[in-house]
Amino acid sequence: MRRHIKNNVSWVGKIDWELETFHGDDYSINNGSSQNAYLVEEEKTVLIDTVWTPHSTEFVENLKKEINLKKIDYVIANHGECDHSGSLPALMAEIPNTPIYCTAQCVKSLEGQYGKRGWNFHTVKTGDTLEIGNGKKLIFIEMKMLHWPDSMATYMTGDNILFSNDAFGQHYAVDELFNDKANQCLLYREAIKYFTNILNPFANLITKKIDELLALNLPIEIIAPSHGAIWREDPLQIVRQYAVWANAYQEDQITVVYDTMWEGTAKIAHAIAEEVKRQSPSTVVKVFNIAKSDKDDIMTEVFRSRAIAVGSPTVSNSILSSVAGWLEFLKQLKFKNKRAAAFGCYGWSGESVKVLQERLRDAGFEVIDDNIRSFWNPTDETLAAVPELVGNLLGGKADDSVEETAVSPLRKWKCGPCGYIYDPAVGDPDSGIAPGTPFEQLPDDWSCPTCGVSKDLFSPID
Ligand code: FEO
Repeated sequence: MRRHIKNNVSWVGKIDWELETFHGDDYSINNGSSQNAYLVEEEKTVLIDTVWTPHSTEFVENLKKEINLKKIDYVIANHGECDHSGSLPALMAEIPNTPIYCTAQCVKSLEGQYGKRGWNFHTVKTGDTLEIGNGKKLIFIEMKMLHWPDSMATYMTGDNILFSNDAFGQHYAVDELFNDKANQCLLYREAIKYFTNILNPFANLITKKIDELLALNLPIEIIAPSHGAIWREDPLQIVRQYAVWANAYQEDQITVVYDTMWEGTAKIAHAIAEEVKRQSPSTVVKVFNIAKSDKDDIMTEVFRSRAIAVGSPTVSNSILSSVAGWLEFLKQLKFKNKRAAAFGCYGWSGESVKVLQERLRDAGFEVIDDNIRSFWNPTDETLAAVPELVGNLLGGKADDSVEETAVSPLRKWKCGPCGYIYDPAVGDPDSGIAPGTPFEQLPDDWSCPTCGVSKDLFSPID
């Protein structure tokens, strides 16, 4: 059933209270979620996005109760991921010739998922517009890598609504739809969890995109994302918050994470937490057992932290698999400006601390030399090293073994947002770049052939 948003704009999405996970089982959902689709009925009728595949029949049947589907003049697909496009096959079976407006990358996404069905695609770029009557128009704004190459936002003039798709969303079911009606604690909690676990890898792009968005000087009265609450009360609050979160965010917090076999490593974890509180009473300290806590919630706490301590006992010359998997996810999220320390017990060879330090460095953390490496259970003597470790974690001199990466014309360069690697030996022939062209000699307007971002978002690699 439609819900009124503003003037001739309605919400026609799906609120899913029973959803427990997202992206398969990778992202935990604790407070439901929604897939927001919107119906605009000016002189032209426009559908902006759809809902996830399992709800496609329900979506199309509900839409039929609201309008004659043949009245839809345009479909806007802001993003191809199936939580927004999953109902397109069922919908387009009813209105096969209706134009679908989306980015060129989105065409690839939709055809990759649903096959070449002969849909009437109209590809758009930033600044392209679509008149919808009554003096109003839609303006398209590419949102590359926020969080996919095909992502796009659509701005509606007159009503001044930004349909932002995934950006500014939250996995949070809000029956009243609007941010001013939502539980403010849950809204903030789900927004920061969403940012941390889905958007933080692209934080540097977010800053640029916000600048670009604000430079358009578009009045924004409503931000209507594709998940969670619609921002109508002070809608720019979430834009301002994103600008803060995207800038190497940290609070005065230390998070201690560990897994343990026989409680020795757990004892060190809690000794570190207690010492942080002793040395810096105002610092927030949180402790999590990786094997028993939600990984997305822990990552949100890491995002808030200025430093972390990570512990694992030594197992088979390495670390526990729970910690190894968690560290892999930590690396993916590309946190910046955070310190880290390692600790763990061992019974004979004791490699865990070294492995933890290597992986933390690999994840971009500034790893301090101090560590707690305990032969069997920690003793008073072992724990005597905790105060110095904590002191350095809180602000002492960090390990300077993290070297600045030297730039060489022979080096390959990696796209931060999507991981594409530019190899000078290969060049980029599809873009007219001959083999042998160093990265530094690429034209200023050259962009990543995979996701389309600019050169300045590449980093040199060995
Ligand atoms: Fe909400 Fe990228 O899908």
